[in-house]
Amino acid sequence: ELHRIPHPPYRLPLLGDVIGASRRTPLQDSLKYASLGPVFRRNAFGKEFVFVWGARLVADLADESRFAKHIGLGVANLRPVAGDGLFTAYNHEPNWQLAHDVLAPGFSREAMAGYHTMMLSVAERLTDHWDRAAAAGRAVDVPGDMTKLTLETIARTGFGYDFGSFERSRPHPFVTAMVGTLTYAQRLNTVPGPLVPLLLRRASRRNAADIERLNHIVDEVVRARRADGGGNGDLLDRMLDTAHPVTGERLSAENVRRQVITFLVAGHETTSGALSFALHHLARHPRVAARARAEVERVWGGTAAPGYEQVAKLRYVRRVLDETLRLWPTAPAFAREAREDTVLAGEHPMLRGAWALVLTPLLHRDPEVWGPDTEHFDPDRFEPRAVRSRPPHVFKPFGTGARACIGRQFALHEATLVLGLLLRRYEFHADPAYRLKVTERLTLMPEGLRLRVERRPVRG
Ligand code: HEM
Repeated sequence: ELHRIPHPPYRLPLLGDVIGASRRTPLQDSLKYASLGPVFRRNAFGKEFVFVWGARLVADLADESRFAKHIGLGVANLRPVAGDGLFTAYNHEPNWQLAHDVLAPGFSREAMAGYHTMMLSVAERLTDHWDRAAAAGRAVDVPGDMTKLTLETIARTGFGYDFGSFERSRPHPFVTAMVGTLTYAQRLNTVPGPLVPLLLRRASRRNAADIERLNHIVDEVVRARRADGGGNGDLLDRMLDTAHPVTGERLSAENVRRQVITFLVAGHETTSGALSFALHHLARHPRVAARARAEVERVWGGTAAPGYEQVAKLRYVRRVLDETLRLWPTAPAFAREAREDTVLAGEHPMLRGAWALVLTPLLHRDPEVWGPDTEHFDPDRFEPRAVRSRPPHVFKPFGTGARACIGRQFALHEATLVLGLLLRRYEFHADPAYRLKVTERLTLMPEGLRLRVERRPVRG
């Protein structure tokens, strides 16, 4: 029943609605169509894609009895890299449930408390680096440094592996290859399938080389573990040695490879973006920064090494992160498919297997839920009373249902800890000439964001 769904007014035969479409920023492009209404469709090369952002419609798509995750568009394009790893597995693939059950305890409270000390020590590498920049009056490269931090954090806590990011002047080859494959996966959506061999010949070859590079690095991570024995039950130990608690099954060597790539990528890229956007907002909103800083000083005092329990107590810093992910959810879309023939929100009939893409940046700006000034950065939107006054499923930066983000607590703990440490140690000075520009490689990242940081006297 597509004909009832609005689409852009100008359509070309064969090409569809690609006029004015940007190949580099397809997501931000789709956001422009919000005026078509809470559900709209675009046509690319003869295929119709349905986009949903209205809160009522998204809440219905969150109904797990009628809808499930769909592997579509960008996620499907990552299958050659991540195969049946947790993020890209089809719902029916047995390796999804197997890996989910084996890996979930790696994200329990106990496991998280175990990662805390290592997260702190990685954060110290960052502050050493920023102390030197502050002393020299040099601006810091925020996304570059946040990527170093989050890659080291997931690599060391999950895999006992040190990428040496802070000792390098250029990004680790893992990061370069990852950015390459993510960008390629995004570009594939902007070219009609049959023309890919022609139009993306060079890019495909480069992509094959990137995948080979990723596989090679991952094999090295596994080899290092095999050589030096156990990692105290970290994620890699679980992947390699843990049998399913009920069936006794284990992950195959090939599936382990897919999971290692999946977790190294999913475990750092989006958290890096979230931290970068948060720092952008904090530098632009001194009053918010001062309030967050006062909270850190009150809760942590002068403790050099805040404990695991002290991180969750930073309620306001956590709201800064929530508000950051409201405006720029760094994994900005997820797809849902109908399990059976059904009617979406009592209005749009969907056949079994039909699917729609949820645009979270628009959901998070639905004026019916968030009020008229949705562009305004205001962490108080996440005060408990305000949260309780909103309907469920209106804030979805981590996706929904059984296939929602397994690393949510990991990301929030890491990001809150790091923001707390940075707020306590530095004043942030934005470059007044900087205008936020968001780059896309399936994920979102503020491009070219640099800040000047100034040491503050640390109490204690
Ligand atoms: C799934 C967002 C951090 C691992 C997802 C999904 C979203 C998301 C939206 C669902 C995608 C879909 O439905 O297609 C984020 C954001 C993060 C973050 C915004 C940081 C701010 C992490 C971290 C890890 C991780 C730190 C690992 C340590 C995964 C995995 C899945 C997933 C493995 C697939 C889960 C499954 O399908 O069973 N994430 N994520 N993520 N995330 Fe995250």
